[in-house]
Amino acid sequence: MLIFNNKTDIKALLAKHKETNSTIGFVPTMGALHKGHLSLLEESVKNNDYTVISIFVNPTQFNNTEDLEKYPRTLEADVDKIKTVNDNIIVFAPTVKEMYDNEVTSAHFSFDGLENQMEGQHRPGHFDGVGTIVKKLFEIVEPDNAYFGEKDFQQLQIVKKMVEKNSMPVNVVGCPILRETSGLAMSSRNERLSDDDKNKAALIYKTLTEARQLFEKHTVDYVTEYVKSIFKAHPEFDLEYFEIADEATLIPTNIKENKKYRAFIAVFLSNIRLIDNISLN
Ligand code: PAJ
Repeated sequence: MLIFNNKTDIKALLAKHKETNSTIGFVPTMGALHKGHLSLLEESVKNNDYTVISIFVNPTQFNNTEDLEKYPRTLEADVDKIKTVNDNIIVFAPTVKEMYDNEVTSAHFSFDGLENQMEGQHRPGHFDGVGTIVKKLFEIVEPDNAYFGEKDFQQLQIVKKMVEKNSMPVNVVGCPILRETSGLAMSSRNERLSDDDKNKAALIYKTLTEARQLFEKHTVDYVTEYVKSIFKAHPEFDLEYFEIADEATLIPTNIKENKKYRAFIAVFLSNIRLIDNISLN
């Protein structure tokens, strides 16, 4: 398997593949890979001649130094997992210097307001960091197709918006959320939960599925109050937000119209921040 740390070298290889009109699929990640990441790789391998995965813990999207420092870095184990999907996947694992030189800062983006909701409100600067690194990575890899998980639904919509606004020649593909059998959405952050907390964290998806059922017959306020009451009754959780929002604009709603809605949640458990979401209709 080919592993690159240097953008010039990977660009040279990919340029050769493009000369033969091969298609390139791309899966950007921050490593600490789990089956959710591997499902994106499988989708890319199935639909492209070559697949590139990037593994890069992007400093500019963290608004909390401790979170950045504690983010798991497990390159060797990641490479072993990638091999289980396909031995021909191309790995790009650059250093911070390679991606940012000496200027570890974000560009500023407008994503037509998508960036102001939910994660944007609670993680200032986060989506500028995501936009900055995804743009840099797209410029290096120049993929035909890029795969992003619905686990980070707001990020998926923002990347689609960036591509559309800048007329980038990339097809952004959204992929379903992979879950543990308990329902807990797979996440690199789950590795920081104790086994006991992993069991408790199943409450998040359980509550989201209940919210989906209630949404069929009840108002948005009713569903929201129900979800808040559940987390109040479980004080080991600290609910940061629960929102029901229009899937296209991500603007939270109080009323139901003829639109597609999704419920979004961010909750702390033992100081670990977990996010999830579910389609409601
Ligand atoms: P990371 O959190 O490593 O996630 C990489 C990709 O895997 C994202 O598209 C994310 O939505 C997807 N993913 C994570 N958990 C998933 C799950 N349980 N099921 C399906 N897909 C899942 O997201 C990032 O990294 C970064 O912000 C990045 C885009 C790489 C930019 O730095």
